[in-house]
Parts: sequence; structure tokens; C-alpha cells
Amino acid sequence: MRAGIVGVGKLGGAVAQAFALDGTWDELVLCDAAPDLAWAQAEDLRHGFARDPGVEVFAGELADLAGSDVVVLAAGQGRKPGMTRLDLLHANAGLVADVSQSIARAARNATLLVLTNPVDVMTTVAWSATGRPRDRILGSGTLVDSVRLRTALAELKGVPVAEVDATVLGEHGDRAVPIFSRARVHGRPLDLTPEERDGLLQEVRGIAARIIDVKGGTAFGPAGCTATLARAVVAPTASVLPASVVLEGEYGLRDVAVGVPAVVGQGGVIKVEEWPLRSEEQAALQEAGRDLAGFVEDAAVVLGLAVRHTTLDRLTSA
Ligand code: LAC
Repeated sequence: MRAGIVGVGKLGGAVAQAFALDGTWDELVLCDAAPDLAWAQAEDLRHGFARDPGVEVFAGELADLAGSDVVVLAAGQGRKPGMTRLDLLHANAGLVADVSQSIARAARNATLLVLTNPVDVMTTVAWSATGRPRDRILGSGTLVDSVRLRTALAELKGVPVAEVDATVLGEHGDRAVPIFSRARVHGRPLDLTPEERDGLLQEVRGIAARIIDVKGGTAFGPAGCTATLARAVVAPTASVLPASVVLEGEYGLRDVAVGVPAVVGQGGVIKVEEWPLRSEEQAALQEAGRDLAGFVEDAAVVLGLAVRHTTLDRLTSA
């Protein structure tokens, strides 16, 4: 199996390390606009294996992504203290449109995993820019938020994280929607007070900013979750994971990528599961989708692309 990572700064570098240690990949190609950085990250990674690493890590150019099963797009500006993910929209949209097209040309059969923020908008931009089917483009969105929710629930209930099942859908950002109606501890539904729910919601939406304030960025969380998604994309059996997927009418949304329960397996997204949700959860998910569609329109303006207002069908060159 071959994976590529485009953009190997702090976050992409952490992704590279997570992939190198994962055991899934035979070859790992690291690419960066600064070739020296790709070289340095590849060298540094290689030196972490005292024995047979089982994976060949090398720095390359985009053309070297040919034959990849999965390519992670982590290029672009990261979130700095005080910034929201959406502050990065204008900084990253053009780059994601360009680079995703180059990746699609170089690695024709790869599934693209988008990590650049704001990730739901960037996943939609990559889908529009490349014209690839939606099953081949996923955003690493609310999986990390789901793990954050599980971690907080485990602490609240005093149980190991492994005993908690909980999922966040919607935007990887301020419109994240914890699906409390399906949260389980030891397989049993949860009784949470309104205050507890609000505390958990604030935790899910705010924890990344608190980490960024202290260490300048998040890395291990999103990197580990991206490795999990990538493994699912090449696994022989399918699994259900929250990921940002371009919707085709599911949850009443279309042509915009939103964090949803995706059946992921060989070749990418097999389908989107439509969970029965409480009315307030469904409403919050739709609101997230509608707001994200608006941000996609903003991105289209920045890119000088025309967008069909009613359906946001495909961004086509103006
Ligand atoms: C996070 C940033 C990367 O949630 O969006 O960790």
C-alpha cells in the first residue's frame, strides 16, 4: 500500500509519523512546497526505526504520488492562537483547489483525504475543483471531535474511553453537533442534564482552541484520526466512521461536505448512513450544512469561480 502526504509541516509531519507507525503502508511519499522540509521530515522519520521499519519513507514531488492508494492534503496555513478555522478560508481555498487538481492528475486512483482547514469547505472545494466522484474525497472532519466527546464523556462518567460510544456530526468547527441521542456508555443510553450537555458541547467546540493557545497548534489528535480514516479506506471490510463527505440529498443537504456517518471501505466512501436523529439534532445538522454551503460560495468568489446558487452543484470555471 502506498500513501502520500502533501504538506508536511507540524500537522502533516505528525500525520506522516502516524502513518509510518501504523503498519498499513509499504510506502510513504512526503511532498511539500518546500522540498527541503519534505526531505528533512523523511530523514527524521527514518531515524525513528532502529530495526526494519516495514515502510519506505521518502520525499518526492507531486508526480511521485502516482500509484498511491490514499493521498492526504494537509497543505496550507494552520490555525494560530485566536483564529477560528473559518479565518483560514481565504488563505487556503485557492491552494486547495490547485493542489487537489495536481494530486488528482498525479494519483488517478487515490482517495483524497483533506485535512486543511476549514476542512468541510476545503473538502467541497477539492471535490468541485477535481470533478472526482464524492466517494473518492473525504475530509478528516468530526472523527477527531467524536474522540474528543468520548474523552470528555469518559471523564464525566469515570469510565475508560473504550466503554464510551459517541459521535459528533456537522461542521468540524463551531457548528459541530454532538449526537447525544446515540451516545452510549457500557452500551446503555445516557441520561445527561442540560448543563452536562452544554458543558460537553463547549468542550467539543472549544478544546482545540485551548490546545492551540498553549502549544501553537494541534497535531497528534487530527493526525491519529486521519491515520484511522486512511486505514479504513484500504481495509478489506468496511467500517462506519464520521467523516466529511459531499452529500447527495442525505440529511436534506446536497453538494456540500459535512461531517456525517460514512461507510468507508476499499475505494473510499461506500455510502452515507442516514441515522434517525432527534429533531433538534437534525435541525442543527441542516443549519451547519446550510452555513457551510454559504462559506463554499464565499470560497468560490475568492477563487473567481461561478457557483450555481440554488444547488451549489459544481463550481465551474467562470
Ligand atoms: C483541530 C484543528 C486542526 O480540531 O482543526 O485539531
